[in-house]
Amino acid sequence: MTSQTLREARKYEETAEKRIGKEERPRFHLSVRTGWMNDPNGFSYYGGKYHLFYQYYPYDSHWNSMHWGHAVSDDLLHWEYLPAAMAPDEVYDGDGCFSGSALTLPDGRQLLMYTGVRKVMDEDGMYRELQTQCLATGDGMDYEKYAQNPVLTQADLPEGGSRYDFRDPKIWQKEDGTYRCVAGNCSGDGDGQILLFESPDGFHWSFEKILAKNGNRFGRMWECPDFFTLDGKGVLLTSPQDMFPQGYEYHNGNGTLCLIGSYDPETDTFTEEHDQSIDYGIDFYASQTMLTPDGRRVMIGWMQNWDTSNQHHPDSTWQGQMTLPRELSVRNGRLYQKPLRELEAMRRNRVEYRDVTVEDVIRLDGIRGREIDMELEIAPAEGGELYRKFAVRFAQNETYRTSLSFHPAESILKVDRKYSGSRRAIIHQRRSQVRSGDGRLKLRIILDQYSVEAFVNDGEQVLTALLYTDPAVDGISFFADGKVKMNVVKYDLI
Ligand code: FRU
Repeated sequence: MTSQTLREARKYEETAEKRIGKEERPRFHLSVRTGWMNDPNGFSYYGGKYHLFYQYYPYDSHWNSMHWGHAVSDDLLHWEYLPAAMAPDEVYDGDGCFSGSALTLPDGRQLLMYTGVRKVMDEDGMYRELQTQCLATGDGMDYEKYAQNPVLTQADLPEGGSRYDFRDPKIWQKEDGTYRCVAGNCSGDGDGQILLFESPDGFHWSFEKILAKNGNRFGRMWECPDFFTLDGKGVLLTSPQDMFPQGYEYHNGNGTLCLIGSYDPETDTFTEEHDQSIDYGIDFYASQTMLTPDGRRVMIGWMQNWDTSNQHHPDSTWQGQMTLPRELSVRNGRLYQKPLRELEAMRRNRVEYRDVTVEDVIRLDGIRGREIDMELEIAPAEGGELYRKFAVRFAQNETYRTSLSFHPAESILKVDRKYSGSRRAIIHQRRSQVRSGDGRLKLRIILDQYSVEAFVNDGEQVLTALLYTDPAVDGISFFADGKVKMNVVKYDLI
């Protein structure tokens, strides 16, 4: 039965979406139907379509009481909105339906698992958000909350686990047919930990173990965990709050963390071997993955940073979009990301230049655009002398530009959107250490109206950033201090 709250949201979004012109939105990244969007939720394949839900407040372009927005797609690039899937309409989730995930039950229904939030008065008289894990089942359009909600409460927490920081269940089915979910939690002193729960049927849950502990290494609370095996390794993705930078890692305050290690499925034991950021740009958080029917592990993230997400203009009718879906792999103990291969079907108007010498500033005929897929290979020009700097500037005219610049001596790649049209003194640049011994670097740059995603060295690292420039500003130029030899291939994405 659809509640009044959900009916209102569904009615509202249908009208409000009409106020947003198609040209105001990205073309192949999912943006919010209307109002506010944060984390991707319930990323799944169900009933012959990809489903993506999201943290959603339809009525305003700022975060507020969380609903679940819903969209479906055949290729993960072109999305169709469906009516909002859930609203905060029960006692246990009246202050928000927070992040969660989805899977298909043996009986054909889709199961959603999410965090129900309810404000309660604590012993000290302060209001705090009590967080429990809840379920809903549905047919890909309409969902019914489970009568026995919540299914995981403070009673299921290990000793010292906080009932106020207990959220974002990511569910999966093991090979033996039983179910698992990971959820973020804080131990008594505010330190993050990832809890693992088990269930025979997806409905009856119990605590199994603490899968990973922060130990105050990477920020504090760990949000939005995801755990899976890939290329023979266990991979834990999470978004820690309040991180300290460490060298060139973890510069985003509320950032991202990928832990790679060994995993023993018999005992569900994860042993860490390596840590890194998931994304090295400015705007990426709360990633979630799914397995495609052909077995690819695909990740999507919220293309935002919490510290700046509320800095947009008060007039804007929508705020929030997702990143490009990315195919993951583990190589040499690191996480690799590649743009979803379906993107290649959108490539048109190939323009290619080989062995171009870049000295000072150059522009190339046919190389421009704001919905493009562009591959660059750079190396020192003949003679082999190391250049001092290379830059590619895009979304450029006399007033505006956003750039990726590379300093080979330090092997530092920088994204800079200072001149992209933002009127706010927020962070506009991010530096990242990339792998390049001899001034060689590969970049694949995807632009879609208001964003850049730069994949470095075939996906070894990714830098993601929003830009604010009017999409009509579509110039591209190349710059070198010293002499660079460059190959470039560019496609429009249509
Ligand atoms: C992460 C997060 C989640 C929570 C949701 C609320 O961005 O804080 O932990 O479930 O957003 O909207």
